[in-house]
Amino acid sequence: MKVLVIGSGGREHALAWKLAQSPAAERIYVAPGNGGTGREAKCVNVPLPGPPESPEGREALLEFARQERIGLTIVGPEAPLAEGIADRFRAAELPILGPDKRAARLETSKVWAKSFIEKCGIRTARSRVFSEYSAAMHYVESYFKAGQQGQGPRSSSPDISSLVIKADGLAAGKGVVVAAGPDEAEKALNSFMKGGTLGEAGKTVLLEEFIEGKEVSILAAVSVRPGKKGGILPFIPARDHKRRFDGDTGPNTGGMGAIAPVPDFSAAAEADFSARILKPTLRGLEQEGLDYRGFIFFGLMVRDDRCYLLEYNVRLGDPETQAVLPLMETDMADLCAAILKGGLGTCPLSWKPGAVCAPVAVAEGYPGPYRKGDPLIMDETRLSQSGGRIFYAGVSASGDGPLITSGGRVLAASAWGADAGSARAKAYAVLNSVTFPGMDYRRDIGAAYS
Ligand code: AMP
Ligand code: GLY
Repeated sequence: MKVLVIGSGGREHALAWKLAQSPAAERIYVAPGNGGTGREAKCVNVPLPGPPESPEGREALLEFARQERIGLTIVGPEAPLAEGIADRFRAAELPILGPDKRAARLETSKVWAKSFIEKCGIRTARSRVFSEYSAAMHYVESYFKAGQQGQGPRSSSPDISSLVIKADGLAAGKGVVVAAGPDEAEKALNSFMKGGTLGEAGKTVLLEEFIEGKEVSILAAVSVRPGKKGGILPFIPARDHKRRFDGDTGPNTGGMGAIAPVPDFSAAAEADFSARILKPTLRGLEQEGLDYRGFIFFGLMVRDDRCYLLEYNVRLGDPETQAVLPLMETDMADLCAAILKGGLGTCPLSWKPGAVCAPVAVAEGYPGPYRKGDPLIMDETRLSQSGGRIFYAGVSASGDGPLITSGGRVLAASAWGADAGSARAKAYAVLNSVTFPGMDYRRDIGAAYS
C-alpha cells in the first residue's frame, strides 16, 4: 500500500518514520514534507503548488492520491482539515484519516467545542462567550472584582485571580492569553476584538476561569461514523513544554519539547480522564452524527488527580507525537486500517516500557521573527552513538548537501531510555551531535523526572 502524509513538520516526520516500519506500507509520500522527510527510508516528498489548505494545494493532493492509487492519506496539521480536505477526499472515495469539516470545529471554533463539551457533561473550566467588546469588558471587571472579594465564579480554583481569554477561531497558537488582572485582559480584548489582530478568529471570544494544575496531553485514535458504533483508543500520556525558556518562562511557542509517559499522571487521574472526558467524548461524537476517523488530542489540566479538559485538537500534537510514537509497538498501518474500517476493538495498542524525551532545537529569534538559511553541521558518528534520532521540521534540502534551516522549530531530538533520566541523557546527546548558527534549545525537558 502507498501512504500519503500531508504536512511538513516534525509530527509528520515522526508519522512517516513510524509508517515506514510497517511491512504493509511500501512507500510513504509526504506532501510537501521537509528536507528530513525526503531522506527518510521509504519516504518521498511531493511538492505542492500551494499550502495543503489552499484550493490549489488541495486539488493537487486529490489528483496525486487518485493517480498514485494511494491506499491511505493521513492529515497532519489542522488547517487543511478546517478547510474540509477530509470531506473532499471522502466524496471522491479516497481513504483519508481526519475529521470532516463539521467535526473539525472541535478545534476550529472554541465556542462550538465548549458547547459540545458542556453538552457531554465533560469536566472543564467555566466560561462565557462574548462577541461585543463592551459586554466582554463589563464581565472582566466583575470577574476580577468578585475575585478580590473571594467570591468569584471560580469554584475549581478560588484562590487564583487570572482570567483566560480565548479567541474563537484558529490563531496558530496566538489566540490564548492568560490575563493576571483587568489591564492585561483589556489589552488582549482590545487587540482581538477591536484591533482585529487575529482577523475573524478574534471577533468572538471565550472568557474562561483559570485552572491551576499540571498540563497533560493525551492523543488518541478515534473512529466514529454516522449511525455506527464508534471506538476510541487513548495513547500513553505526554507533556509538552510550551514556554520558550527553561523553568517554563518566556513567551508561548508551538512547543519546545515533550516527554512520554508523564510520571505525575497517576492511575487515579487516568481513570478520571477515562470516565469524565474520554468516554463522554466518544458518546458525544456518536450523538452528533459526525464522521470522525482520525486522531484527536485532549489538552488537560490535572489537579489532585482530577482532569479538566482545556481543549481538543483534531490531529496529533507536535512535539508530543515525536515522543509518543517511538514508544508505540503497534503497527501504524494496522492501526490506521482499523480506524478507517471502524474496528478499533480489533487493534489493541501496545507500548514499549521506558520513556522518550524529545527536546526541540529552534532558530535564533523564535518564536519571534527568526533566522533562516543556515546549514546544519552534523557529527554523524556522535549521532549514531547517541542511541537516539532526529525528527526534522523547519529544514530544506538541496541535492546531497547539508540540510538548511527554514523554520522556527528546526528539529526535535528523540530518544528512548529505560527511564526518563536515561532517555533525557540520550536526547541531549543527539542535540550535541548537530549544530547550526544561532541554534538554541531548552535544557530542562524531562529534567523534573530524572
Ligand atoms: P492553547 O493555545 O489553546 O494550547 O492554550 C495555550 C495555553 O493556555 C495552554 O497550554 C494552557 O497552558 C493555557 N490555558 C488554556 N486554558 C486555560 C485554563 N482554563 N486555565 C489555565 N490555563 C489555561
Ligand atoms: N503541542 C500542542 C499542539 O500540537 O497543539
